[in-house]
Amino acid sequence: LRIAVLFGGRSAEHEVSVRSAANVMAALDASRYDPVPVFVTKSGRWLLSRWQAKRLETPDTGTELCLVPGGRGQALSISEGGTAGPLPAIDVVFPVLHGLPGEDGAVQGLCEVAMVPLAGCGILGSATALDKDVAKRLLAAAGIPVARAVTIRAEARPAFAAVEAAIGLPIFVKPARQGSSVGVAKVRTKAEFDAALDEAFRHDRVALAEEFVAGREIELAVLEAPDGSLFVSRPGEIVPAKSHGFYSYDAKYVDADGAALIVPAELDGAIEEALQDLAERAFRALGCDGMARVDFFVTSDGRMLVNELNTIPGFTDISMYSKVMAASGVSYPEVIDRLVAHGLK
Ligand code: DAL
Ligand code: MG
Repeated sequence: LRIAVLFGGRSAEHEVSVRSAANVMAALDASRYDPVPVFVTKSGRWLLSRWQAKRLETPDTGTELCLVPGGRGQALSISEGGTAGPLPAIDVVFPVLHGLPGEDGAVQGLCEVAMVPLAGCGILGSATALDKDVAKRLLAAAGIPVARAVTIRAEARPAFAAVEAAIGLPIFVKPARQGSSVGVAKVRTKAEFDAALDEAFRHDRVALAEEFVAGREIELAVLEAPDGSLFVSRPGEIVPAKSHGFYSYDAKYVDADGAALIVPAELDGAIEEALQDLAERAFRALGCDGMARVDFFVTSDGRMLVNELNTIPGFTDISMYSKVMAASGVSYPEVIDRLVAHGLK
């Protein structure tokens, strides 16, 4: 099976994607898959990459590719001189792109149009899950507890006092569509709030001011079987280092000691079951299919709030999805086999 692994991308999570894709490449069983790594540059060009000595090439020139609409996986190569040539058809596209565009339904739609099977979540679930504002409203409508938040548009900023009155302090300010905590800030004052909104609006037109939830950060993986049934993993816990204040981008990817992962999380059996049930309901509520990682806050008084769903969760060395799946008896190569099987069904 020729499987195109898309990675890099135009988003602020470009570097995270490169690290995720290296692990996906390493987990693809060479006896069954013929992986074709495709590097998406920061400017959005698709360039043929190579997997060599356990590293992915990230070229800035070379063979440029595009998927042909209606082409059933047919890809064209575009040379610098402008002449185009067909490449062998691709059987499955596996986007390992985080953020926008890539995790938001755009690449998923491109695969639909090109008539090539897709590994992972489709258009609808990708689009709803990546937008924290839309996701929160759908989760709330399904009766799933979420943190209180105020949706803020760049052209209509509310007064700090009104937001503080609604959700208290501290406040988390987040762009609606962004990942890996890029553009997220924890604020206490009007000056910090204004600066955090300026930063959030550099990433999206819509931002969220969200209440601070004093709770443990617990994550579960959901993986759909070809028959449509859902496998929900055991929970894992993230314990960010005190020095970081919250699970920020630096705590995730820059500081090697920025956070500890405890897998499986030490939780009461009844709480674990309730989380698994909520994870499945959240996955359905957002219209997801394929896979997602569902992130929760669990408070000491037993409240379980869904923070967000990630339809292309990180697959870096420190990432939770593969760790909680392994703790649930599903190895990394097996995760990939199931995703590909789901895409081909
Ligand atoms: N957005 C990052 C990659 C994650 O959720 O793991
Ligand atoms: Mg995310």
